[in-house]
Amino acid sequence: MERVVARDVITYIEKFAPPTLAIEGDNTGLQVEGDLEKSVEKIGVALDPSLKVIERAVKEGVDFLFTHHPLLKDSIRTFDGIIYEKLKILASRDIPLYSAHTNLDICEGGLNDALAELYNLKDVKPLYENGLGRLGIYHGSLKEILKTTEKYICKNPTVINREVVEDRDTLKVAVLSGYGLSQKNIEYVSKVAEVYISGDLTHHSKILAEDLKLSVIDGGHYGTEVYGLRHFLKYLEELGVEVVSLDF
Ligand SMILES: [Fe+2]
Repeated sequence: MERVVARDVITYIEKFAPPTLAIEGDNTGLQVEGDLEKSVEKIGVALDPSLKVIERAVKEGVDFLFTHHPLLKDSIRTFDGIIYEKLKILASRDIPLYSAHTNLDICEGGLNDALAELYNLKDVKPLYENGLGRLGIYHGSLKEILKTTEKYICKNPTVINREVVEDRDTLKVAVLSGYGLSQKNIEYVSKVAEVYISGDLTHHSKILAEDLKLSVIDGGHYGTEVYGLRHFLKYLEELGVEVVSLDF
């Protein structure tokens, strides 16, 4: 087997999810540098760079950590508290932390394509101009959509306006991995789709979806993202190194 160094892992990730696809302001890319010339024999993959994940990465002896969500979302002025803890662990073991966030949502074969494929959507196109989400036609009933959701995304999804589309056998479906159930999203999707599968439904979004007669399936932030992350993990395995999941 050819020697793989951290820098090669980054190149390989960026071939799949080019950083140029990321939406403006997204903190995608290298989060904590580490030694990029060191050999990588084991990669850890996780949805979140939580303390638990970072501690597991050390326990598992990973040489490189990949997370979908970035370490820092807002600009901070001081490395203290939990961020300091995380940095200390990663830096003392020289483990690079790399995130591919919205570029992994958007890219071909990424988290949103994985959802479109799971539901076997036809005539698929991006839901938004920036590439986020997917919109397509589902040949089947809401009942079948729910069956697939319960099997692969989330055991107990929240369903809004089930009765609106219950007797239909072709549906315009929108999917968006992660946090897609904001009021703004619901308002837009109600104009282009009949069923919307995403995550993180709030009380106000629920009321708005009810008012707009949009059928919503909340499969959870975790469930709607981890489904595609499993596929991405398989892609990383093709590098010829061991890959372990740390929070899914
Ligand atoms: Fe997310």
